[in-house]
Amino acid sequence: MSIVVTGATGILGGLVIEHLLKNVPANEIIASVRNVEKASNLAELGVEVRYGDYLDMASMKKSFEGAKKVLFISSPDTDNTLRVRQHANVVQAARDAGVKHIAYTGYAFGEESQVSLAHVHMATEYAIRTTNIPYTFLRNSLYTEVFVNPGLNAAIESGELITNTGNGVLNTVTRKDLALAAATVLTEEGHENKSYNLVNPQPWSFNELAQVITEVTGKKVVHRSVTFDEMKEYLVKAGLPEPVAEFSAEIYQAVSEGETSKTSEDLTKLIGTPTPLKEVVKQTFQG
Ligand SMILES: NC(=O)c1ccc[n+]([C@@H]2O[C@H](COP(=O)([O-])OP(=O)(O)OC[C@H]3O[C@@H](n4cnc5c(N)ncnc54)[C@H](OP(=O)(O)O)[C@@H]3O)[C@@H](O)[C@H]2O)c1
Repeated sequence: MSIVVTGATGILGGLVIEHLLKNVPANEIIASVRNVEKASNLAELGVEVRYGDYLDMASMKKSFEGAKKVLFISSPDTDNTLRVRQHANVVQAARDAGVKHIAYTGYAFGEESQVSLAHVHMATEYAIRTTNIPYTFLRNSLYTEVFVNPGLNAAIESGELITNTGNGVLNTVTRKDLALAAATVLTEEGHENKSYNLVNPQPWSFNELAQVITEVTGKKVVHRSVTFDEMKEYLVKAGLPEPVAEFSAEIYQAVSEGETSKTSEDLTKLIGTPTPLKEVVKQTFQG
């Protein structure tokens, strides 16, 4: 039984393979990557490394040859129409290679979302459904690391954590927990034709994050919520390129409007309780 993991040189793909190696012999794991040299660490572990570029359907088909299961990790490209084309290539390649089960990393509650990246994931899910390949849709939350990362050191220094999230809450999960969920689906029976919303059953707010940072670092940090325009201006002044500042303010705005507030027990059923926010903050600031 071979399992192919695409995007295996990425952070999530690497973590999935780490989890898989605990239960699956290395010679049954195949890493499909666009940069074979970058995967030398995986080859050293005994994982077979195959070349596959989402833009090149033939290479993807070759990388899926003989595979029973595929974990298709979505493209990181920021051009959403390009992503749709890349994803269609991967799906067609999986169909033509005769893959028996495809797990796809989508977006939590994507069918109800209006953010454009959600449409890419829903388009991909529908493309997969057209093939009749048994599927598992791993509808991932936003990663906790998108919000809790060393970039918060500026807030720790100034004592003020500024966002435009208002009292919005975030159902985020760490990549490590999402990777464990993916590895579980790939190694257990009974997940065919299921869609899982892999979100945190206990969403957190930036008010709570400020409090947790205060507890963990011993430095008082308070959350101050501002308007969308104020946030964008603040981020531009802090040195972010304007499109990046706008994108960040848009994500925060979506949080304030409830985009990341929905809960589900799907993740807990697969992996148990996800890593608590305080633990993530400790790992980020205490090493
Ligand atoms: N839920 C969230 O908050 C969130 C945040 C960011 C991204 N995402 C999505 O989740 C995915 C996995 O996250 P991650 O953190 O592991 O991202 P990542 O570290 O950027 O990994 C992305 C992987 O995709 C590969 N890739 C890029 N273009 C490709 C192509 N044309 N053909 C084949 N492979 C290609 C990359 O290869 P190289 O190593 O060669 O670049 C890398 O292995 C991302 O790709 C993105 O779709 C989710």
